[in-house]
Amino acid sequence: MDITLIRGDGIGPEVMEQAVRILKETGADLQFEEYDAGIPALERCGDILPEELMESIRRNKVALKGPITTPVGGGFRSINITLRQAFGLYANVRRAFSYEGIDTPFKNVDILTVRENTEGLYCGIEETPDEDTAKSVRLITRKASQKVIRYAFEAARKLGRKKVTAAHKANILKETDGLFLRVFSDIAKDYPDIINDTVIIDACAMKLVTDPGDFDVIVTTNLFGDILSDLTSGLVGGLGLTCGNNIGDDAAIFEAIHGSAPDIAGKNIANPSAVICASSEMLHHIGYEKEARAVEDALRKTFREGRCLTADLGGNATTAEFADAVINNLR
Ligand code: NAI
Ligand code: MG
Repeated sequence: MDITLIRGDGIGPEVMEQAVRILKETGADLQFEEYDAGIPALERCGDILPEELMESIRRNKVALKGPITTPVGGGFRSINITLRQAFGLYANVRRAFSYEGIDTPFKNVDILTVRENTEGLYCGIEETPDEDTAKSVRLITRKASQKVIRYAFEAARKLGRKKVTAAHKANILKETDGLFLRVFSDIAKDYPDIINDTVIIDACAMKLVTDPGDFDVIVTTNLFGDILSDLTSGLVGGLGLTCGNNIGDDAAIFEAIHGSAPDIAGKNIANPSAVICASSEMLHHIGYEKEARAVEDALRKTFREGRCLTADLGGNATTAEFADAVINNLR
C-alpha cells in the first residue's frame, strides 16, 4: 500500500525516521512516497505546498505527517490548516490516555477529543481594516458541525464509550456556538445509548485538570479543540505522547499533536512516541489491525518497563534509543 510521507521540519525528521523504522519492522506492506512541505519545500523547490504532494495524497488517500513550522505573526499560512481544508479532513481525533509507567497526577485518564478541523476561528478569514484594528471571522456551518458531531457519536458507539460532551461558549458566542449546540442536541437524539452533555469551555478547562475522569468523548470547535487537546495531552505526560488523526471522507492524515519543537530540534532528544502512536493509528485505519496493535503494545511495554525514556519523561534516552526499545518490544 502506498503512503504519502511528510517528514516535516524541526524535530520532524528525527521523530519520523523512528516511526518509519518501526513501521518497516511491523512487516506491513507499505511503500512511502516522500515529499517536503513548508520551509524545506520552499528551500528545495520554491513552493511551500508542492502540487505533487497534493496529488500523492489524492491518490493514496493516506498520509503520515511530521510537524511543520508555521511562522508566527506574518509569513505563509499554516500548511496543516491548508491540508485539512483542502482534503475536507473534518474531524481531528486526539486520544489522551494514561500509560502505565508514566507518573502523572491522575491515573486512568482516557479522553477522546474530536475537534472540528476545517472552519471556526481557523477558517482563514482575517483582515486589518486599519493599522489599529484587526479582525477574524469565526465561521460555523451546520454542515461541518453535523459532520464532526456525528463522527464523535459514531466513534463513541464504535469504541464502547459512554458519554459525548460538547464544549462551547454559547453564552457569549450566541450565534456561532448556538448553532453548534443546536446541531449537537439534534444529533444526540439519534444516539439514545450514549449520554450527551454540554459544558462551557472555561469551566471545561478547570474540570479537566481537577476531575478528568468525568470526561469520555469531547466534541468541540476548532480553536477550543486545539487548546483542550494539548491540555489533555499534558494530563497524560505531555505533547510527546499524543497523536492526532485528521479524518475526512476521501483522505486521512496521521500526525502528532505537537509542533516542530524548535527548542530541542537537531539534538536527538525528542520523544518519538506521538508519531509512533500516529503510525499505529494509521495502520489501524488501513486495515493492518494486528500490526497496529503490536505497535501500541510495544509502546505501552516500553513505558511500563520505564528503563528507556526520553528527557521529557525524566529519562536520558535519545530519540533513536527509545525507538530501539520499542522495536525490541515488537518482537
Ligand atoms: P511545540 O509542540 O512544537 O512545542 C511545545 C513544547 O513541547 C516545547 O517545549 C517542545 O520542546 C515540547 N515538545 C513538543 N513535542 C515534543 C516531543 N516530541 N518530545 C519532547 N518535547 C516536545 O509547540 P510550539 O513551540 O508552540 O510550536 C512550534 C512550531 O510548530 C510552530 O511553528 C507551530 O506552528 C508548529 N506546530 C505544528 C503543528 C503540526 O504540524 N501539526 C502542531 C503544533 C504546532
Ligand atoms: Mg495545536
